[in-house]
Amino acid sequence: MSENIHPIFDQLVSRGEREKYFNQKSHVFWFTGLSGSGKSTIVKGVERMLFNSGYFSQVIDGDNVRSGLCNNLSFSMEDRAENIRRVAELSKLYLDSGIITLCSFISPTIEIRKSAKAIIGQNDFKEVYVNTPVDICEQRDVKGLYKKARAGEIKGFTGIDSPYEAPISPAKEIITASQSIEESVNEVFNFVIQESKLS
Ligand code: ADX
Repeated sequence: MSENIHPIFDQLVSRGEREKYFNQKSHVFWFTGLSGSGKSTIVKGVERMLFNSGYFSQVIDGDNVRSGLCNNLSFSMEDRAENIRRVAELSKLYLDSGIITLCSFISPTIEIRKSAKAIIGQNDFKEVYVNTPVDICEQRDVKGLYKKARAGEIKGFTGIDSPYEAPISPAKEIITASQSIEESVNEVFNFVIQESKLS
């Protein structure tokens, strides 16, 4: 079937033109970490700071996407891979629009993140590891999901009975346990704007 599909790229307004228009370089900042590690909180804070400073950005978040675009997917490894594949394709559209894209997904395995990087592009994929140990996520238990997982009410919960593989050399690592939310947000914001300067 794919031989009958002819994508148009050459007639579109180019990414470079859009980046110039927005006066920023676009990348996909890919936040990975356990459930409750602080990904969404940090991403929300960074998005607000970017907006207030005149940058154009968009957030794509696991909990949101899973209630729409990916609402037919479970948390099996196969479905998580499909979740990430769709989101990576979506991110690439934003990327080509010149928009700074902040993706917040557990994306639990090195393999899954590698596949996202392959779709998005080696130089445009910036991995941000929100490093919060499972015992701290479980203590916080903002959504009450660790409690349910321990009680056996949720099967295959990341960090409990489903694996999480930490990134080996992320572009940025945030250790949330040793600083405030504000400090984490500032640290990521500074990293993002440094990467988003048009040269
Ligand atoms: S991913 O593994 O496919 O990348 P994603 O980031 O989209 O996960 O969704 C994670 C969110 O789904 C968690 O923050 C949590 O609120 C919810 N969730 C529900 N069931 C599970 C589960 N079995 N494992 C992890 N997260 C789950």
